[in-house]
Amino acid sequence: MTRKPRIAILGTGNMALALGKSFMASGHFIAYGSRRPETKNDFHEAAGTESRIWGYQAAIDAGEIVIITLPYKEVAAMARKFANSLRNKVVVDITNPFAAQPNNGESGAQVTATAIGEGARVVAAFKTNFASTFDHPNDSTGEPREVHYAGDDEEAMEIVEGLISEIGFKPIDCGSLAEAVVLDHMVPLMIRLDTTEHSAQHLSSWRITPG
Ligand SMILES: NC(=O)c1ccc[n+]([C@@H]2O[C@H](COP(=O)([O-])OP(=O)(O)OC[C@H]3O[C@@H](n4cnc5c(N)ncnc54)[C@H](OP(=O)(O)O)[C@@H]3O)[C@@H](O)[C@H]2O)c1
Repeated sequence: MTRKPRIAILGTGNMALALGKSFMASGHFIAYGSRRPETKNDFHEAAGTESRIWGYQAAIDAGEIVIITLPYKEVAAMARKFANSLRNKVVVDITNPFAAQPNNGESGAQVTATAIGEGARVVAAFKTNFASTFDHPNDSTGEPREVHYAGDDEEAMEIVEGLISEIGFKPIDCGSLAEAVVLDHMVPLMIRLDTTEHSAQHLSSWRITPG
């Protein structure tokens, strides 16, 4: 059996754990990257004893794929600092800019790719999925929830498509990294509609239907 790629997840919050637990259950080794790993004494109770928690550099070095689950405002500086290590790895950017949306029309993920520089292989994904839905990849109709993803590197896009499928979600190719700006804007709308239509349970998800 071929070994599944090791995944580094930068951050140890809600989305880090939701993604980490899903990918660990699917057979990946997970290295979490934290600002202060030495303070996270109880982390393995939540994350599972098979995972590791290190600083950003060690986690990135351990991962063949890197998922960024930090607050958006932290991402560009982190990406610049660790650019040499992130370059040529598949980097999955799940972060949502909200009020910090670039005002030149770029997507948040484009800013991340620019910060990494030449050789960046960034794919925007999981931006439009609430953390609480990862325990239920199928929605209340029994259908797999969509995960929107977008990027410019064909091979990286294929890898992310596979990652989405293997944890039970339905990958929806939304185009280029520039087009990922639409995903950034879908998130505030998703939160608003989840509140007005579904009592802010954070279990809603987008679906494009065949009509
Ligand atoms: N929550 C959702 O449903 C959801 C869905 C889709 C996308 N997102 C996006 O995913 C990202 C993470 O969301 P989350 O809900 O997982 O956030 P969270 O629970 O607050 O976790 C963020 C993690 O980032 C690390 N971090 C680094 N610098 C930080 C800083 N200055 N302030 C706070 N934390 C910092 C922290 O890990 P250490 O303390 O270990 O360093 C923290 O655990 C955000 O960009 C968000 O927009 C969230």
